[in-house]
Formats: sequence, C-alpha cells, structure tokens
Amino acid sequence: MTKVFSGVKPTGRPHIGNYFGAFTRWASEQDTGHLYCVVDLHAMTVPYDPEELRTRTHELAAWLLATGIDPDRATLFVQSHVREHAEATWILDCVATMGELGRMTQFKDKGGGRDSVSVGLFNYPVLMAADILLYHAEEVPVGADQRQHVELSRDIAQRFNHRFGETFTLPKATFPPAGARIMDLQHPDRKMSKSDESPQGTIDLADDADVTRKKIMRAVTDSGTEVRSGEDKPGVTNLLELLSAATGRTVAELEAELAGARYGDFKKQVAEAVIERLRPVRERYAELAADPHAVADTLAKGAERARQTAAATMADVRARVGISA
Ligand code: TYM
Repeated sequence: MTKVFSGVKPTGRPHIGNYFGAFTRWASEQDTGHLYCVVDLHAMTVPYDPEELRTRTHELAAWLLATGIDPDRATLFVQSHVREHAEATWILDCVATMGELGRMTQFKDKGGGRDSVSVGLFNYPVLMAADILLYHAEEVPVGADQRQHVELSRDIAQRFNHRFGETFTLPKATFPPAGARIMDLQHPDRKMSKSDESPQGTIDLADDADVTRKKIMRAVTDSGTEVRSGEDKPGVTNLLELLSAATGRTVAELEAELAGARYGDFKKQVAEAVIERLRPVRERYAELAADPHAVADTLAKGAERARQTAAATMADVRARVGISA
C-alpha cells in the first residue's frame, strides 16, 4: 500500500481549485495508510485572527469529511494536535538552507524580501517537509502550485539521510489529470486562491448553486468565438479544464464535442457540471456543520492515530541527530 500525506491550510474559505486540485483525489483514493491534515500552524505565517483560525480549522475539517474522506479508513487530523510537527521542523531547519528557501516562488510572491514578513513565512516549506516526512509518505497529492515545496521536502530528506543515515522516505508530488491549476475566473492569468481579493473570480465550496452559476456565466472569456484551449485563450482554457475536472472527460473530447458551440452555452454546461459535482458535497457539509462535536471527536481520534507514527519517527530522528534521552 502506498503511503500518502497531504494537507490544506485553514486560511480563507476552501474553493473549487482546492477541490479539483486536491480534495477529490484524497477522497477517491483514500486507504488506511493515507493521512490528510488541516495545517493550522501554516496558517499562522501571515497575520490572522486566533478565533477565526479555530473556527476555520473545524469548518475545513468538516468540508474534507463532506468530500467523502472516511475517517475509519484514512486518518484526518489537525497539524497542531501532533506536536511532533513543530519539533521535526526545528531539526529539519538545521538541514535546510537559506538559499533553497529563498528560491521558493510562493515565498517570493507573498512578500519575500520585505523585512516585515514573518520568519514563519520563510520557514513554511520546512514545516511542510516535516508534515510529509514524519509519516514516510511516498506520494503527496497536490495542485501544481505545491510542486516546488514537495521537491524541496525530497531534497531535505535526501540531505538528512546522507548526513545521518537512511531515515526518511523520499516523497513525490502527484497531480490530477485535470484541474491541477484552476485559474481565477476574472483573472485567468492567476491562480484561483483563498484570498478575499477576487470573490467573483473564486468559487467557494460554500457558494450555493445560484452563486456558482452566476460566477461561471460572468467568467472572463477571450476574443474570438471558438471553444478551444490554447495560450491565446486563457479564459476558455480554464473553463475547459474545469469542465474536464468536473466530468472526468478529457479536454480533447470536450473540444471536439463543443466545436461550434457559443460561449454562453458552453458556460452553462460548465456551470451545471460544477454544480452537479458539488451538490452532494454541499449537502453533506450542511449536515456535518450541524454537529461540530462529531467533527471534533473525529479529529481527536485522527490525531491519536497520527501521533503513533509521528512519535516513532521522532524517536528515530532524535537518536540519529544525537539528542536522544
Ligand atoms: P493550500 O491550502 O493552499 O491548498 C490545498 C490544496 O489545494 C491545491 N490548490 C489548487 N489546485 C488547483 N488549482 C488551484 N487554484 C489551487 N489552489 C490550491 C493546492 O495545490 C493544495 O494541494 N502548503 C500547502 C498545505 C500543506 C501541505 C503539506 C500539502 C502543508 N503541509 C504537506 C501537502 C503536504 C498549501 O498551502 O495548500
């Protein structure tokens, strides 16, 4: 059985980029050796409100359950509940280099170079490496934006193993056939993201069917009338990608079928496919949100299970780096 780990940050609200890029595979490929984590410590790297962090952590866990993650098979837990993540980060900090962290595009995009950004933001990928390496994950199902971070985790693992002996499994990122990088509907040159900057360009999982339909109908398209993908057509390409992710059909198939279709009809088709796909998830979320104690209970059990592996890995790591009791 392949060991799998992946995570999502409780900042902002989860959106369809998260769903198609990551969550849907977590649910469909889950197995007993898979761990899925709400990474609340990562959410602290930028200014935030503590009460909101608490609420969003639980809401996000409920969304993951709503997508179909079954806590009796996979392990669903909150990062901060397993203290080993923070401890492993320090040890891996002493293996990672300033140079490699400084090259991370996410850090550069989010304000690298400004003196006021937190050390945590710089350090973010090391915490992510700790997440992955503690569980000896072989595969990390993520969207395309996390590729560089997973590669860095692999480099850190390799360096650690070289210095202290075979300890960590070398992880690799895996991507979905469609939806690895869903773009903002209003600005198809940038990634759909959880920030509040572009509410019209982002479809939240919590949006209802009407809002979803409106946002897709108002999505920016490109000049020309053809429904095809291509660098000169970022808006249409993104909608085709969404339709492909929502239906499981390839972009080539969809292009052939939609030859001659008008943008308006095409968008309607995209909207209905996305709405249909999310309908059961949204319904299940409403049920789960009504019972926060059940979600908290699930998370406590998940943390207990995760801790067993994390503690065993840390015992080995401590001994290897010379800090064992
Ligand atoms: P986060 O919370 O930004 O996103 C969670 C997952 O959603 C994917 N994703 C997207 N996929 C397609 N299109 C998009 N527009 C889009 N936006 C986000 C992300 O690639 C991700 O898979 N650093 C991570 C969380 C993390 C993690 C880990 C992931 C922490 N530790 C260990 C894997 C393993 C992050 O901020 O993801």
